[in-house]
Amino acid sequence: MPTLRLRGVGRRFGGLLAVSDVDLDVAQGERRAVLGPNGAGKTTLFNVICGDMPASSGTIEFYGEDVTVRPARARVKLGLARTYQQSRLFLGLTVEESIYLSIVGVEGGRLRPWPRPRHDRELRERARIAAGRVAIDDKLRARVSDLSHGEHRQVAIAMALAAEPRVLMLDEPASGLSRGERTLLTELLLGLDPSITLILIEHDMDIALSVADNVTMMHEGRVIVEGTPDEIRANQMVHDLYLGRGFRNE
Ligand SMILES: Nc1ncnc2c1ncn2[C@@H]1O[C@H](COP(=O)(O)OP(=O)(O)O)[C@@H](O)[C@H]1O
Ligand SMILES: [Mg+2]
Repeated sequence: MPTLRLRGVGRRFGGLLAVSDVDLDVAQGERRAVLGPNGAGKTTLFNVICGDMPASSGTIEFYGEDVTVRPARARVKLGLARTYQQSRLFLGLTVEESIYLSIVGVEGGRLRPWPRPRHDRELRERARIAAGRVAIDDKLRARVSDLSHGEHRQVAIAMALAAEPRVLMLDEPASGLSRGERTLLTELLLGLDPSITLILIEHDMDIALSVADNVTMMHEGRVIVEGTPDEIRANQMVHDLYLGRGFRNE
């Protein structure tokens, strides 16, 4: 049984079909990259998978359970976690507080303003562990506003990991990162717990192809190619799209 199974998934915005008739099977522990030019529908596909917006058509199954009409928080409870293309961090919080809040947000589904002391210590320990998994545990007390762009990405991933997801979805984690930060991110992704299923939208082909087991290539809302990194590297359509020449035959 695939971890994630999409059949005929579409999402319409008025007259625009942002995502159209997408079939997708992602296996447990797989690393799947989703590639495609800007506007291809990648983020919309993520939004529909995690329930941030409803699909206009098709079905989404998570571990065999149909979640198509279930709200985002129910999908989080089933083990989906994601990051966003634009960081959604509270700049005034520390790293520890950010991760802590992300755990509390999942625990019981509501914020508890006064956690019991023992519970509080346990949550802080979990926050520290999540920070360690993305090598940002030396900055636990730092304010998010004082961190670099790359560190913001690490915090966002730590916040997602703190929820102990079975499926982690990252939307362009490398965008805006320096070369050095990209190398760190690649190492972080390669070192992720292999039991976590990873779905990665990424513009940086080097990162995507070094991390992924399989690649789904989107264009104008549709899946146009699926294959291993080697198959993707050899695919002319992929080269044409990324070199900005559009489709051959078009
Ligand atoms: N909330 C929205 N309302 C209207 N149109 C949207 C919305 N989100 C995305 N779109 C449109 O859907 C298409 C796909 O966008 P998106 O999923 O963000 O692509 P990608 O992430 O591949 O760059 C684009 O044409 C975009 O303008
Ligand atoms: Mg996007």
